[in-house]
Amino acid sequence: MNNSALIDLEIKFLLEGVYQVYGYDFKNYSEASLRRRLLHWLSSSDFDTLSQAQSQLLRDRDLFETLLQGITVTVSEMFRDASFFKAIREQVVPYLKTYPFVKIWHAGCATGEEAYSMAILLLEEGMQGRFRIYATDINEAVIRSAQEGIYPLKDLQNFTRNYQRSGGSGSFSDYYTARYDYAILSPSLRENIVFAAHNLTADAAFGEMNLILCRNVMIYFKTALKDQVLELFDSSLVAGGFLCVGTKESLDNRKISGRYEELTPRAQIYRKRYA
Ligand SMILES: C[S@@+](CC[C@H](N)C(=O)[O-])C[C@H]1O[C@@H](n2cnc3c(N)ncnc32)[C@H](O)[C@@H]1O
Repeated sequence: MNNSALIDLEIKFLLEGVYQVYGYDFKNYSEASLRRRLLHWLSSSDFDTLSQAQSQLLRDRDLFETLLQGITVTVSEMFRDASFFKAIREQVVPYLKTYPFVKIWHAGCATGEEAYSMAILLLEEGMQGRFRIYATDINEAVIRSAQEGIYPLKDLQNFTRNYQRSGGSGSFSDYYTARYDYAILSPSLRENIVFAAHNLTADAAFGEMNLILCRNVMIYFKTALKDQVLELFDSSLVAGGFLCVGTKESLDNRKISGRYEELTPRAQIYRKRYA
């Protein structure tokens, strides 16, 4: 067996072990990117091979947490893909306003930027007291960071530009306080958000959501896992609710696609049909 095939085998054993011990199922993540990330983690560890690392990874939760950080891609930004948020503001919010109260789920929220962006947008649209945002991620470390709502000041120029392009009606600087090299988001934004750990491959559906965003998460999943997670979203969403995926993603050729209509071409916003 050549070295590359041996590494594939080690990955297979490791992922099965991780699943059995910790319940995280990475077996249906896209192979190429997972392999690259595992080998990158290995190169920064004290181990020479994944099989050497395996016995300790399966016994030492803290070590496993470092692997989890290495496997998950957690980059995000506020008002990421400004035209997407503009479409939410202009084409989805008018529907949301017809409900007395709406529930929104950001699945795979990473460090929270997307959820805070949504809170700002809905507050600017006059929906104060009429929404709750559930922001979840498999990675508990990023959830802890999201709860703090503190971001490097160097990112704020980009965040501000995105906010303006997305149709922001105020001044972005009203939403944070600069301290040293960091921007601390206004704690009042957090009042509308519940951050929690949730694993899309294993945990239960949420009930009666009006809007679900899962952007730049399923790109790392194989087709079968995408379909499984989309079913989870479908069962969490009310009829007439909205499902949003990332700019490089779509519902084309997915099992649930017949149950949805595309709200706007290229905005990756889908509306669940009434039966
Ligand atoms: C690239 S970030 C996307 C952040 C944000 N949605 C955005 O588009 O800016 C992907 C996130 O998905 C999370 N993730 C990966 N697999 C997951 C799973 N099975 N369940 C929940 N979250 C997951 C990762 O931990 C990571 O924080």
